[in-house]
Amino acid sequence: MIIEVNGLTKKYGDLVAVDNFDLQVAEGEILGLLGPNGSGKTTVINTILSLLRYQSGEIKVFGEQLDPDRYDLKARIGVVPQELAFFTNLTVYQNIDYFCGLYINDKAQRRQYVDGAIQYVDINKYRKFLPKQLSGGLKRRLNVACGIAHRPELIFLDEPTVAVDAQSRQFLLDNIKNLRDHGSTIVYTTHYLEEAEYLCDRIVIMDAGRSIASGTANELKHGITVKEKVTVTFDQDYESLEERLNALSNVLDVHKLDERKYLIRFQESNSNLKKLLDYFSRQGINFLEVYNELPSLNDVFFELTGKELRE
Ligand SMILES: Nc1ncnc2c1ncn2[C@@H]1O[C@H](COP(=O)(O)OP(=O)(O)OP(=O)(O)O)[C@@H](O)[C@H]1O
Ligand SMILES: [Mg+2]
Repeated sequence: MIIEVNGLTKKYGDLVAVDNFDLQVAEGEILGLLGPNGSGKTTVINTILSLLRYQSGEIKVFGEQLDPDRYDLKARIGVVPQELAFFTNLTVYQNIDYFCGLYINDKAQRRQYVDGAIQYVDINKYRKFLPKQLSGGLKRRLNVACGIAHRPELIFLDEPTVAVDAQSRQFLLDNIKNLRDHGSTIVYTTHYLEEAEYLCDRIVIMDAGRSIASGTANELKHGITVKEKVTVTFDQDYESLEERLNALSNVLDVHKLDERKYLIRFQESNSNLKKLLDYFSRQGINFLEVYNELPSLNDVFFELTGKELRE
């Protein structure tokens, strides 16, 4: 294991920000920490990085304890923090060179690494710009370049796509996969479900400082009671429709979404749509629109917490 966290508890005063938290990250995987605002993602990262003290628990990185003065271990780690972190009076190139220079002393090698990072996030046009001349998305790219230029084995990315346009976001996500494919291990935090699903080999869902579920996106989705969802819009009001739908086999529950629009959730995915359509035709019920979906990570989060984790 590249990272091993056992029973981590971190309090800020009386607030328990991280509560008896366990985490294992294997070499070469993208591990997603998925949770709503304030669930403790950043605190977990900062305690692993030994930037914060904690009350109890054990943390090992590369099999060792990461004390603040372990520069040998820190050199193998890259951090892209949630808050943009670079110098406003240095250019794009100088910023990346500064962060790279914390770990890479050899000038020729450093030049090569900084150039590599600039190519990597595709900001070559802006190398002489000051950060204030960059758009939000370009600042995020610079932030990433500063964190990864020294070619670390283990990379923490804390919500790197917040306030980034769709195109830059896709570009960043694909680049992160690319880092993984070249052997890096990645810890990625997000509250975007679709991102976690697209990017992460494994996901740990956090809520209120606790790890409430973990697995691949598929494992998480198969692990919940809801197995299929069907949404129907009917052409008119039918008598006691909700009760009738509820009584059908495998139906877990029925939600009225809108006038004549219903969400039917099934606890098994076994030709539900076909059976439903057969039922409608037998009963003379007409619909304007019908579609089915498999459960999403949002359904997983909702089932586990009773709350929505919206994009
Ligand atoms: N320096 C601090 N002092 C006091 N409380 C803090 C501090 N930093 C974080 N907290 C609290 O700890 C909890 C966890 O915060 P944290 O920043 O780790 O969450 P997060 O999952 O990263 O949220 P976000 O998605 O908004 O970044 C929150 O309740 C937050 O208010
Ligand atoms: Mg955070």
